[in-house]
Amino acid sequence: MRDNDRVSDSTIPHDGSRVRDSDPSERGSRLIVAIDGPSGAGKGTIARAVATRLRYRHIDTGAMYRALAWKATHDSIDLSNEAALSALADRINLDVAEGRVRVDDHDIAAAIRTPEIDTASAVVARYPRVRTALIARQRALGTAGGVVMEGRDIGTVVFPGAEVKIFLDASPEERARRRATDPSHTAGRGVAAIQDVATALEERDRSDRTRAASPLTQAADAVVIDTTTLSIEDAVEKVMEIVREKGSRQ
Ligand code: DC
Repeated sequence: MRDNDRVSDSTIPHDGSRVRDSDPSERGSRLIVAIDGPSGAGKGTIARAVATRLRYRHIDTGAMYRALAWKATHDSIDLSNEAALSALADRINLDVAEGRVRVDDHDIAAAIRTPEIDTASAVVARYPRVRTALIARQRALGTAGGVVMEGRDIGTVVFPGAEVKIFLDASPEERARRRATDPSHTAGRGVAAIQDVATALEERDRSDRTRAASPLTQAADAVVIDTTTLSIEDAVEKVMEIVREKGSRQ
């Protein structure tokens, strides 16, 4: 692991009160759980809950692209300059884990959830050299297993050998509704107009799905879960069932 990639186990519960038989790691296998899908499909909430239940680390790779976009904007790096952005991706002092997002020990967890960074992160994520640098960090963070990693290309490119691959999806209308009412995305700006959010989401989806370098796509061996009408609890339980099934075969 690089010195500048730090993951804390601070959210691991110490009370021993969790359902222990749901954790395949109890049987000696620390799995890699890859959760991919478009914005608003529920990846963040579900990945976090699954990681807590398993006592695994949760890594939000989207936050890495967002942090890079934030730092580039902060340092006035031109978003069309792939060489400068990939050099930044190599050297950036990044700490992304368990809901924390820090660059140079500066807390930017809220600052990266703005419409400007939504757009800028989709731009930086299109550059192959930027992706190579961030994918290397993601592999370093997850390779030992015991991790729930969410993103767009975790099951296809970052960890094609992940034991558990989930592709979360939901209808475009429901994804826009969730984004428009998500306080972590609308902090201080009130509830966003759903139609504006839907238009921006559609544009980012198009960018994520059509880029040449690791586009958003379902891994052939991923289990698809449509969360449009599912409660969070039911979606988490479905993922846990898949984890238990895969874990018991390890
Ligand atoms: O999941 P998110 O909305 O926070 O992701 C921000 C941007 O980064 C989005 O445009 C998709 C992109 N991304 C990516 O290309 N690959 C990942 N593994 C994670 C996110």
